[in-house]
Amino acid sequence: MTDLFATIDDDIITQMRALIEVLKKHNHAYYVLDNPTITDGEYDALRQQLVQLESQYPSLVQADSPVQTVGGEPLPFFTQVMHDIPMLSLGNVFDGEDLANFLRRANERLEQVVPEYEMELKLDGLAVSLKYQYGVFVQAITRGDGQTGEDITHNVRTIRNLPQVLPACQDIELLEVRGEVLMPKAGFEKLNRDSQAKGEKGFANPRNAAAGSLRQLNPAIAAARPLAFFGYSVNQGLPDDIETQSKAMAWLGQLGFETSPFAVARNQQQIQAYYDKVVQTREQLPFEIDGLVVKVNDLSLQQRLGFLSREPRWATAYKFAAQTVPTRLLDVEWQVGRTGTLTPVGKLEPVNVGGVTVSNVTLHNFGEIGRLGVMIGDMVSVHRAGDVIPKVSSVLPELRPADAKPIILPSHCPVCQSPVSLPEGEALARCTGGLICAAQQKEALIHFVSRRAMDIDGLGGQWLVKFFEMGLIQTVADIYELHTQADHLMTLEGLGEKSVAKMLAAIEQSKQTTLPRFIFALGIRGVGESTALNLAQTFGEFEQIRQADLPSLLAVADVGEITAQMIHDFFRAEHNMVVVNKLLAAGISWQTMSVPQDLPLSGQTWVVTGTLASMGRDEAKEKLLALGAKVAGSVSAKTTKVLAGEKAGSKLDKAVSLGVDIIDETAFLAMLEQSTL
Ligand code: IVH
Repeated sequence: MTDLFATIDDDIITQMRALIEVLKKHNHAYYVLDNPTITDGEYDALRQQLVQLESQYPSLVQADSPVQTVGGEPLPFFTQVMHDIPMLSLGNVFDGEDLANFLRRANERLEQVVPEYEMELKLDGLAVSLKYQYGVFVQAITRGDGQTGEDITHNVRTIRNLPQVLPACQDIELLEVRGEVLMPKAGFEKLNRDSQAKGEKGFANPRNAAAGSLRQLNPAIAAARPLAFFGYSVNQGLPDDIETQSKAMAWLGQLGFETSPFAVARNQQQIQAYYDKVVQTREQLPFEIDGLVVKVNDLSLQQRLGFLSREPRWATAYKFAAQTVPTRLLDVEWQVGRTGTLTPVGKLEPVNVGGVTVSNVTLHNFGEIGRLGVMIGDMVSVHRAGDVIPKVSSVLPELRPADAKPIILPSHCPVCQSPVSLPEGEALARCTGGLICAAQQKEALIHFVSRRAMDIDGLGGQWLVKFFEMGLIQTVADIYELHTQADHLMTLEGLGEKSVAKMLAAIEQSKQTTLPRFIFALGIRGVGESTALNLAQTFGEFEQIRQADLPSLLAVADVGEITAQMIHDFFRAEHNMVVVNKLLAAGISWQTMSVPQDLPLSGQTWVVTGTLASMGRDEAKEKLLALGAKVAGSVSAKTTKVLAGEKAGSKLDKAVSLGVDIIDETAFLAMLEQSTL
């Protein structure tokens, strides 16, 4: 029995030690080096794990746990100053339940009194204590370790929105105002743009930019940085008639200090409503915040509540759901896509990221696994911003368990068992089964009927997949045989005579198509819509494309060596030709494309990039096509001209490096006008 307990304790201690070491490392990177390697959200989530273990096993709490100390070591080269009153930290709550607990505890302690709460934004900068003697600014100290901070008066004095003199306070011997020094987002972005232009590294986020600026010995540097001070408390010298935090904030405002916006709430619902509103509008704020601070409004009640170790019982930080959170990678499954690519899908220990539970995450491709250096069993950071699909942003190798397993690319396709190939130096692994692979067949069918391909609307949705799973259709050619099974289809649940007739009519109608759509619908690897269009325009006839040799394929705009080879191979594979012939025999047809020779831009290949003010990119492409040009998706030596709109990026760079002609929108519009004369 005792042995068993000893093992559990050892286990917990090992887990605690691992978390402590990681937190210490990140504390140092954050507080001392001003160069964090993980986001605040990740840090909070790791810290929270330790908090939880400590509250579950209080007897095992480690003496050096960062949860028990306030982070940050003062730098040696600034004068160290003791705080008159320690500068402590805030506890965190992350959801309604945590908040309810915090409020309940405060209410219980106050017995008869029902306190009012004051809410402020939790500004993401760094805490500073300011001293004014008889209304004159004399000293600024960082929080440091909470007891002793560093004298940064020379830097803080340069902050433009900081009042240097408070005429209304000339009778107050000592006024201490605490608040946050931060760098507004716009200033931060400009600073980083400027430093990147100079080839310097820039700062990871505005908080670090602010901290880095204040930790300079030379005040000229801070003076050149767009810093701002926001007051959030008066710790000494507050006039006696100011009895609440909200009045203290209003007073700071009257004295000329910038403060966070603040509001007062009577209960949890009102706090929650304010929080929800702030979550909605957070992006529009000119500075970064990471939550709300909820404070008991009455200052005498604050006194009564006091502190629990290093955190006030009268205030807490109601943090926003982290956009990046660590969790464990439990396993990896491989999904097979339309063109046979094997996509690794990470199975995660479910975790709430920015309010959404995430349990699957794409790892993109085998190359990405190598880049991340991730193993099964690893703690990984999962990131999600706005509507973006969650992704693994990094691995926390310090927390790798001893039994972590490497992620191995399967040698055979999990769907059809054909061998998997991963060409040397490539990131994408593929099933070599082609159309005999059920996964690829299914995806190929979905692609074939899609709107921009054969556009068989009536077959979209569930039915196509259902028919495939029932064995009614295997290849795209079978779609045009479905009419022979009309009677059977009508017996299926959910399908009546009318809907079957409609479906078959849509299939029949799709036979009238265009050559580019048909080529695109075949789902040849590397052949997207624009390549399909270029092939159709270059060769004019399907037979010509199907028989084209490599050199003539390579001559097509937008077709490089790999794509040329794939088109070539597609039309040489027997099983593909059986399907194509069946499609043609079923009556799929199109009007012959004329290959225009005598239009103004005949023989030219254009690339359109960036944002155009007067039209969309598609419209510009259509205009170019109408003038006889081919339009390619990427810039190469074959490109005749690049039309570059606003914010053009890598394509423009490439055009410059290849010496390709570039024209802007104004010149393009002038050209259009001329050519229609
Ligand atoms: S009040 C006893 N109000 O959050 C501590 N803090 O995690 C009272 N912070 O060190 C702090 N905005 O740097 C307070 N409106 C606000 C704040 C705020 C940001 C920071 C501050 C503090 C940290 C605690």
